[in-house]
Amino acid sequence: MNELTLIQPDDWHIHLRDGDALKTTVPHVAQHFARAIVMPNLTPPVTTVAGAEAYRQRILEQVPSGVNFEPLMVLYLTDHTDPAEIHLAAESTFVHAVKLYPAGATTNSASGLTDIANAYSVLEVMQEVGLPLLIHGEVTDSDIDVFDREATFIERTLRPLVEKFPKLRVVFEHITTREATEFVTAAPDHIAATITPQHLIYNRSDLLVGGIKPHRYCLPVLKRETHRLALVEAATSGNPKFFLGTDSAPHAKHTKESSCGCAGCYTAPHAMALYAQVFEAQGALDQLEAFASLNGPKFYNLKPNAHQIRLTKADQLIDQSFDFLGDQKLDPLMLGETLSWHAELIS
Ligand code: NCD
Ligand code: ZN
Repeated sequence: MNELTLIQPDDWHIHLRDGDALKTTVPHVAQHFARAIVMPNLTPPVTTVAGAEAYRQRILEQVPSGVNFEPLMVLYLTDHTDPAEIHLAAESTFVHAVKLYPAGATTNSASGLTDIANAYSVLEVMQEVGLPLLIHGEVTDSDIDVFDREATFIERTLRPLVEKFPKLRVVFEHITTREATEFVTAAPDHIAATITPQHLIYNRSDLLVGGIKPHRYCLPVLKRETHRLALVEAATSGNPKFFLGTDSAPHAKHTKESSCGCAGCYTAPHAMALYAQVFEAQGALDQLEAFASLNGPKFYNLKPNAHQIRLTKADQLIDQSFDFLGDQKLDPLMLGETLSWHAELIS
């Protein structure tokens, strides 16, 4: 197959940052994606509906003219989130979810939850109004090995949580393990997961063997090959519980190529080509539209997009480090490598 036309996709997990960073990140996401779930881990985080509305406007100001792009906003759950804010969110037209970061789990998670019990009254309301909880699923205990933090989170936090709140809609974000694919597959229909391109393409040896590759470093960290294979199987299975979420997370080049490098892979400009490569290798290009364009809207109770995107089999050299935050640079994942697909919005 050399050409593929799909309903225009959405990105159900992205980091756009704020301020001048939006000048780089917004045009990139809007090139191929019609909508995106915009993560709220700014400094300070987006914790209120009013804050989300203002952030949404700043994003919209950077959408190139003639391009349709809708940011879907998310509130950041803290120990102090007021259940009344959840009612406001549910009544708004632009807040689509609430994000749970365990405090200390990842970039800008310092204001996250220190104990899941601190959010019970908020989760009660979310369950009642049907607002999805998006979860960064890793424990933060220093005695748990970094490669085991997702699997441990499932048993210690997630399984008890979905038992306590049996109707709460949950997206297990950027899953990285076989345990996570099995948990989500066995769970009821209102429990879903996003999968990034980097976790479908790489395992932990690709991160560490032959010299550390800082642009492949993200959280949750890449796992061993058996987990990558489970993720590929889940993404390409056609199971509606799994959908596209790039977790594209820009960090300036010098902050990744550093003695204490930041976590996050920047994939927004090439995401569709990256996913197409994975689905092609699996002989599952016929499942790409479900994963990229249908399963996400279904979970979020939104309509699939009206426009279409064309994927063409054509070499695409990733040759550009982008301008970022004035005089800084932003390297995309796979800079200097050639992809075998090219994506283009057609109508
Ligand atoms: C994300 C970021 O940089 O904001 N980083 C990452 O490695 N994925 C945060 C996150 O989603 O964990
Ligand atoms: Zn993320």
